[in-house]
Amino acid sequence: MAAVACCWSYLVVVATVVLPLLLLGVIGVSRAQLLQVGFYSDSCPDAEATVAAAVQDAAANDPTILPALLRLQFHDCFVKGCDASVLIRSASNDAEVDNGRNQGLRGQEVVDAAKAQLEDQCPGVVSCADIIALAARDAVAMTGGPSFDVPTGRRDGLTSNLRDADVLPDAGDSISVLRSRFAASGLDDRDLVLLTAAHTVGTTACFFVKDRLYGYPLPGGGRGADPSIPAPYLAELKARCPPGNLNARLPLDRGSGSGFDDSILRNIRSGLAVIASDAALASSNATRALVDAYLQGPSARRFQRDFAAAMVKMGSIGVVTGEDAGEVRDVCSAFNAS
Ligand code: HEM
Repeated sequence: MAAVACCWSYLVVVATVVLPLLLLGVIGVSRAQLLQVGFYSDSCPDAEATVAAAVQDAAANDPTILPALLRLQFHDCFVKGCDASVLIRSASNDAEVDNGRNQGLRGQEVVDAAKAQLEDQCPGVVSCADIIALAARDAVAMTGGPSFDVPTGRRDGLTSNLRDADVLPDAGDSISVLRSRFAASGLDDRDLVLLTAAHTVGTTACFFVKDRLYGYPLPGGGRGADPSIPAPYLAELKARCPPGNLNARLPLDRGSGSGFDDSILRNIRSGLAVIASDAALASSNATRALVDAYLQGPSARRFQRDFAAAMVKMGSIGVVTGEDAGEVRDVCSAFNAS
């Protein structure tokens, strides 16, 4: 009888406590859970400070490197997970970075500089994937965004193929395409809205705006300007990006300077987005409602807190962890010699 009672209570615990927690992912078995805040606290105690100093040094010479580092993490994590595959350089130009979707990607030299110092301090310990994640975190804080802990322990991946980067979102993607690209990385509508708000900092080349201004397919045939752009704003955008000038740059967050704030969401809501994928967030009820929610009341702190959480979530996409998987590269731009 005692044995029956014991098994019964065991089953009750499994059914009422363990299964729901597993379903919620609270005690999941995913590899991402092996990431931990302070992973290097024993093996390389100054790792995080060294990365922060490298970012600070680079930003002292060129503050535009901060947004570039934030973008670098997005482009790393969306393609086969956060494994530094975006840093691999290929003599035959067939690595991820060579894909057109990575056009204009910058900041790799900051990761290389941090890595070189870390190899002096603690050889073979700190992965390039973690340096990317830490540098992006530091870039957010240094532009006036939230400060937050980043779990570490990623290992570097062993492949980097040009075509793999086709999965990266494109500036011309519709809201449904953006949603499905984010969903493929385990990210939902809220993550899409929050992470797109990273465009509060940084600039875009006119290359990514030209189709909205001159190449939008018009209902009556032919091509012209996206009709959703308010007329005075269209004139402003055309003045900044005249036909044929693809390299001129303009801020992604109109009129808000280079600091991190929520004005990008206000701009999206008012039809003043710069690139089409940002404007697309106002085109579905669900994402528009999320944008509105972050703009209501004393929202700035909630936006910053949730942005930080979304960054941590993005930073755990498809991570490689554990001694038996991947490697810690000697140099971030090349796989280790076998
Ligand atoms: C939703 C899909 C996204 C699309 C289609 C997209 C597209 C773009 C484009 C076209 C640029 C301009 C690139 C250039 O001309 O140098 C850009 C810049 C940037 N993106 Fe995104 N992006 C997306 C999501 C994200 C995410 C999730 C993040 C980070 C969390 C991010 C961070 C940035 C930053 C910080 C810049 C400015 C880079 C600089 O100034 O050097 N983007 N993005």
